[in-house]
Amino acid sequence: MKQGFIEIETPIMFKATPEGARDYLVPSRVYPGQFYALPQSPQQLKQLLMVAGMDKYFQIARCFRDEDLRGDRQPEFTQLDLEMSYVHRDDVLALVEGLFTEMIPAVTPHKKLLSSPWPKFSYREVLERFGSDKPDLRFGMELVDVSDVFAKSEFKVFQSALAAGGVIKCIVAPKSADMSRKEVDALTEVAKSLGAKGMPTVAITAEGVKGSAAKFVTAEEAEALKSKTGAGVGDLIVFASDARAVANKVLGGLRLWFRDKLDLADKDMMAFAWVVDFPFFAFNEETQAWESEHHPFTMPKMEDLPKFDTDPGAVLSDAYDMVCNGYETASGSIRIHRRDIQMKMFQMLGLSEEDIQAKFGHMLEAFEYGAPPHGGMAPGIDRLVMLLADEPNIREVIAFPKNQTGRDVMADAPSAVEPKQLKELHIKFE
Ligand code: AMO
Repeated sequence: MKQGFIEIETPIMFKATPEGARDYLVPSRVYPGQFYALPQSPQQLKQLLMVAGMDKYFQIARCFRDEDLRGDRQPEFTQLDLEMSYVHRDDVLALVEGLFTEMIPAVTPHKKLLSSPWPKFSYREVLERFGSDKPDLRFGMELVDVSDVFAKSEFKVFQSALAAGGVIKCIVAPKSADMSRKEVDALTEVAKSLGAKGMPTVAITAEGVKGSAAKFVTAEEAEALKSKTGAGVGDLIVFASDARAVANKVLGGLRLWFRDKLDLADKDMMAFAWVVDFPFFAFNEETQAWESEHHPFTMPKMEDLPKFDTDPGAVLSDAYDMVCNGYETASGSIRIHRRDIQMKMFQMLGLSEEDIQAKFGHMLEAFEYGAPPHGGMAPGIDRLVMLLADEPNIREVIAFPKNQTGRDVMADAPSAVEPKQLKELHIKFE
């Protein structure tokens, strides 16, 4: 309020707003065969408010998404949704950072902030260093690229990864050289579940190197490895040799496994950071089509516009995430406010002219009235409360939550309805 924001409520019964999940639909009694969609977020509405000259908007907004549930997801959740006109990325980040920096000590005085100002990383950098786009920064164990150390390795696994254009990366687990066979096997299963074919290790002991890859590591390589990673006696080096994306994902997951096993993260620390410069498009291998990485109203970096047709994978977006302790706690972007760019985006996503008009005609029309440049973001409130309350599952901080399969087991919902209601809604089941 101090900053001049106006609180505006937006409708729950609206039209589909894509955020990457399925919609919950509400059938209309008055218009047979037609449906409202519950908002996956008020994204389109807050942008329309900017076009209407509202300048700064916020809302504690309920969102609905039919998507696979995880420990940090519910089908119905709450965002602190906000939007501002005439802003650049860093104006939005400064506002939200200021808000959280003031709020966290006020509501949870025992929680410490890792740093102020918060660090800012590019998407590429966090993947390379932490193997995750939502890194937990409360501890080290960063990923190290040791491809050069093993450039001439005799080890088939390393050789073939490099020959295929991949990388050899590793993490150093402190005081883990004496991990039992059983634990290493369990960890190998974790690595495999993340996409690894195996999990070579080297343990640094007073008697020399041990572990599954030790016999393939020359004395010279062992020295280079130690100096590059900083590993010392008592440490375990865990490798992933694969395509870059796979190696990062595997080691990112193993890093969190060690965090929990070795109790490396201070639970009273809130390690907030910004992740910026996301790719604009993601290629869906299944449908063989480009999808928007954020939502389709996100602005690409203007200098990347010419790459839309020539190299879509290289286009970066003006999107940003706020991350904390291994979770994505908020996300936002500068928006497209030009009709031509928005049209181009929809076309890239494979929407026909007809579809575009039917689904988003209202947005495109609004942009014709001279839309101000605008941007915003939406911190997830329940997810943040989960972190502040040290709860491992978002269900614990929501009254009457749904279970892992989306059921309210107390009220037994969803449930069948009276045939009369279905008739009124013109619904028949096959
Ligand atoms: P996004 O979809 O990234 O962005 O959501 C923003 C934040 O909302 C929280 N969140 C959830 N919390 C609980 N259960 C869920 N199923 C769930 N899904 C998301 C997360 C997430 O970071 N309209 C855009 C924001 C914008 O661009 O301004 C949006 O909704 O904390």
